[in-house]
Amino acid sequence: MTQQQSDLQQEMMELRQVLAEHNYAYYVMDDPIVPDAEYDCLFQRLQAIEAEHPDWITPESPTQRVGGAPLPQFESAEHLMPMLSLSNVFTDEDVGDFQQRLLNRLNAQSDPQSDAVERSDLEYVCEPKLDGIAVSLLYEGGKLIRAATRGDGSKGENITQNVRTIPTVPLQLRGEGYPRQLEVRGEILMNKARFDKLNNEMIQAEEKPFANPRNAAAGSLRQLDSKVTAARPLEIYCYGIGATDEVDQPLPARQSELLQQLALWGFRINPEIQVAQGVEGCLQCYEQLLEKRDALPYEIDGVVYKVNRFELQQQLGFVSRAPRWATAHKFPAQEAMTQLLDVEFQVGRTGAITPVARLAPVSVGGVTISNATLHNMDEIARLDLRIGDQVVVYRAGDVIPKVMRVVEQQRPKNAKRIEAPTHCPVCGSDIDIPEGEAIARCSGGLVCVAQLKQSIKHFASRRAMDIEGLGDKLVEQLVDEGLITNIADLFTLTHAQLASLERMGDKSAANLLAALETSKSTSLPRFIYALGIREVGEATALNLANHFGELSAVMSAEHEALLGVNDVGPIVAEHIQLFFKQANNLDSIQRLIEAGLEWPVIEVAEVEESPYAGKTFVLTGTLQQLTRGEAKSQLQGLGVKVAGSVSKKTDVVVAGEAAGSKLTKAQDLGIEIWDEEALLSVLSDA
Ligand code: IVH
Repeated sequence: MTQQQSDLQQEMMELRQVLAEHNYAYYVMDDPIVPDAEYDCLFQRLQAIEAEHPDWITPESPTQRVGGAPLPQFESAEHLMPMLSLSNVFTDEDVGDFQQRLLNRLNAQSDPQSDAVERSDLEYVCEPKLDGIAVSLLYEGGKLIRAATRGDGSKGENITQNVRTIPTVPLQLRGEGYPRQLEVRGEILMNKARFDKLNNEMIQAEEKPFANPRNAAAGSLRQLDSKVTAARPLEIYCYGIGATDEVDQPLPARQSELLQQLALWGFRINPEIQVAQGVEGCLQCYEQLLEKRDALPYEIDGVVYKVNRFELQQQLGFVSRAPRWATAHKFPAQEAMTQLLDVEFQVGRTGAITPVARLAPVSVGGVTISNATLHNMDEIARLDLRIGDQVVVYRAGDVIPKVMRVVEQQRPKNAKRIEAPTHCPVCGSDIDIPEGEAIARCSGGLVCVAQLKQSIKHFASRRAMDIEGLGDKLVEQLVDEGLITNIADLFTLTHAQLASLERMGDKSAANLLAALETSKSTSLPRFIYALGIREVGEATALNLANHFGELSAVMSAEHEALLGVNDVGPIVAEHIQLFFKQANNLDSIQRLIEAGLEWPVIEVAEVEESPYAGKTFVLTGTLQQLTRGEAKSQLQGLGVKVAGSVSKKTDVVVAGEAAGSKLTKAQDLGIEIWDEEALLSVLSDA
């Protein structure tokens, strides 16, 4: 090997080392040390060296996580030490019984002659019971040589190729003192947000989505083509070891210490794990995790209690396939089965028609539910849902219950197909399904009583006009009695009209009139939000108000001008323009202002026409002084259009550090290129 080659090889080894450290910081510790762009840059350099010298590539190289050639089938893999299962407990009392059994055993085993103190409580490690797929990772000399599913506990499937693609699985262990041969056990899972995203993509691609994150993880691991697995967002948490041999330094004496050791060797350990004393400590931990369950980014279905000291674990041993020294305290199920009684179609504020499942009441996780959302007709078709079907419903925390799937084997003979309505179920107007959208909408606008009621409720709501005392029930009454047909009618209501309503006395009528009066002094952002323009939520309303300063300017804004507002894209701009084109909306606004609604004008800094207005910029690479989002919104403030990709139409490319292909393309096309400094100077002049 020439000197030059040996230098190159040295550089390659160093790159691998540095990249593995960055990977560890980013994926395992969740605490990145370098910007993504720098990582990408190092990674590309390593790839380039390896491309030049393919014979230097080893399986531990960080570049080797992309997946290899498809397999004809999975081979079987025997575990060096069996993978066990866990017994379950469900109630607090069960947890007490669990500990009592352990104490009885330990106290009976201890030598009655010795003066050993009887134990009355034990120390446990409480770990979330992760709802994923158990795997066993086999390391030899610190290198991952095999990964296997649990299978029957003794023998699983060899899924090494697939597991290698998961960034949180170490290919090469860090640190020192690991046994020559080491089996590590953990759970592979897909986080909830990534699962939702994957499922949406699958639905878009007209593929069958997964029922839950666990199935998605299982399905992704069972791919014969590891390139498919590589594209799936899987992750691992490790919670134990199997076989080990030739240990230089003694292994830790406790589960809690083992987990710390595993973390030092590069394994990802779940951050919710706690050490707890006795039953009380375990139950406290259970309550905490149950409380946190919905907020966690991955699914858990209980808490695993493990006796902390390995010596005691050993004394306790196993029954059949499960350890005595551990148990899983299960959370209440989030799924239940019930019958679909009917499907009703509800009309929302913007006319969106949503099918709602009426269900035979069933308890899910301690709450009785009798309705669930079905989103839209596509969802009904996807589920192949019929009235009378047995369905599995899912409810997590405050989330609206959802129909997950149909139990087809139990479909009754007279199950009825669900017809999409052809006309609005409330007002009878035609239904539109805009091109490329799954959502059907009533075309009736405010003629539709359902839309009218919803838009008045929205107008009156706390974060909009904040009309105290004007609740949902009262809005229904006012509309049903024909007292209001428009938001502006609210301000013409009389004491006599209100007092004549059922359940409404003199006093309530007077209070409501006072609240209406108070609400007239409002702010521009609230007023814009209250109008209920499609896709204009509180944040967008605030941006519009701050950008234009007064209502008339928002109402007459051109499409391009709207695009200059933070967070406003072409679709939202379209909705805004459409809203202010409709005569009935203009009429309502006019009447509201005549009724005395008012707000302070917002000072807008006078912007001179910027020389960059109307130009198209592309941002690429990492900026040091600003985030991309900040740079984008400041540029938009100058009337600049900020695009995502470089084309002939691009006027300027702003290249931060480690800019990649966009910069190259801009150079090829001869487009003007700025560095961050140039950008900052233009922004500060503006
Ligand atoms: S320990 C010796 N710890 O639960 C005990 N298992 O029912 C064996 N699981 O197959 C497992 N989170 O898939 C353990 N923190 C955790 C776990 C966990 C999830 C799963 C694992 C196992 C199943 C046993």
